[in-house]
Amino acid sequence: MAKYIIEGGNKLEGEVKIESAKNAVLPIIAASLLTSDDVLIKNCPKIEDVFNMINVLRNLGAKCEFVEDNLFINSKNVFKYSASKKLTEKLRSSVLAIGALLSRKKKAKFSFPGGCKIGKRPIDIHISVFRSLGVTVNEKESGIDCFCKEIVGADIQLPFPSVGATENAILCASLGKGKTTILNCAREPEIVDLANFINKMGGKISGAGSGKITIEGVSVLHGVEYKPIPDRIECGTFLIATAICGGEIEIRGFNAKNISSLVSKFSNNACKVYSSNGIIILNSRGYSDNFLVETGPYPLFPTDLQPQMAVLGLKGRGCSVIKENIFDNRFLYLSELKKMGAKYRLDKNIAYLYPSNLKGAKVRALDLRGGASLVLAGLLAEGITEIDDIYHIKRGYLDLDKKLTLLGAKIREEK
Ligand code: UD1
Repeated sequence: MAKYIIEGGNKLEGEVKIESAKNAVLPIIAASLLTSDDVLIKNCPKIEDVFNMINVLRNLGAKCEFVEDNLFINSKNVFKYSASKKLTEKLRSSVLAIGALLSRKKKAKFSFPGGCKIGKRPIDIHISVFRSLGVTVNEKESGIDCFCKEIVGADIQLPFPSVGATENAILCASLGKGKTTILNCAREPEIVDLANFINKMGGKISGAGSGKITIEGVSVLHGVEYKPIPDRIECGTFLIATAICGGEIEIRGFNAKNISSLVSKFSNNACKVYSSNGIIILNSRGYSDNFLVETGPYPLFPTDLQPQMAVLGLKGRGCSVIKENIFDNRFLYLSELKKMGAKYRLDKNIAYLYPSNLKGAKVRALDLRGGASLVLAGLLAEGITEIDDIYHIKRGYLDLDKKLTLLGAKIREEK
């Protein structure tokens, strides 16, 4: 099993390249099932979750091929309605193939999706979205069996602005009959990107980015070339890493507005962020003021950045607090940080983080973002940290070790 070996104690300095957003690319790959024409996704990151999603599409009959960083997809010969459980359980986003297949083929039979073990991750909202759009959904112990004569536009009120359910509603209604309105929908930038992608294929989606999305169903969608938005979670991970280690980092081609809930935590004595014209510069003195972070749906603080933020909390001068409001088991990584000397108290969904002198240790990545937090802790700790099971981290970060090395960190992968 591959591991990262990190020698802590170095500042981070320089420019870092941010990949296309994993959470935009995966729904866009699912959306390529909506057309029988060629789709080209530019700057597609070669990370495990992308390969896992490609395998789901190939299993359904689509052709997928990388030429350098460009992913070509052709779904003309998609003849199956069901992908192998072995493949779909590897990632949560496999659930999005259901909405796209229903839109195009009116039928889908899938086992429940997998993904990081960060709490209960039901798909009841997705199922009720499909039913609202005229789909019969039979729920079984192993998964769901869905079919319909046609997708019929509807007014849908989501009980929670679920990212995945909003995406499935968009995918499912795009080739439907009539108008669909999604109220209380997710407003994440990746939702806007999915809508832009489908609109470039000839779709009629408006309101993405607001709490109300309208989709006018169209009868056919055509091929498209598209470059997804940069990854705000990767960007945030590097900003937090630099805040922790000290130094100065520059990120180009990124809209700081998409990450304002994080940036707002940084304008203090310890750390300053400057942003204009798509450039973000973070300068850090290598400690943290105390902070309170509460995760929530966009534009609130992203749950995908709370584990990284917890490491910054350990570098504070007093107690920092993180309240997790999205997932019910997202603090597993704290037990690994404890092996490195992290001082904290966990009270249900609230973590209290105290100043700690981290020391290198042998730890294990338990999920993607929790794994990233261990890398950040390793960069900060005295001595050598060895992180096992880094395949979790590689699901979402391309060349994390190489990019950090370019910034001055001492980190290498050992196979
Ligand atoms: C969530 C995050 C997203 C992140 C992704 C991966 C939010 C709002 N969403 O998206 O930013 O990139 O995880 O870490 O922060 N839920 C149900 N029933 C459903 C669907 C969801 O109860 O059918 C619940 C989930 O259990 C969870 C919450 O709603 O508590 C958020 O779910 P959702 O936004 O759908 O999750 P993801 O799409 O995975």
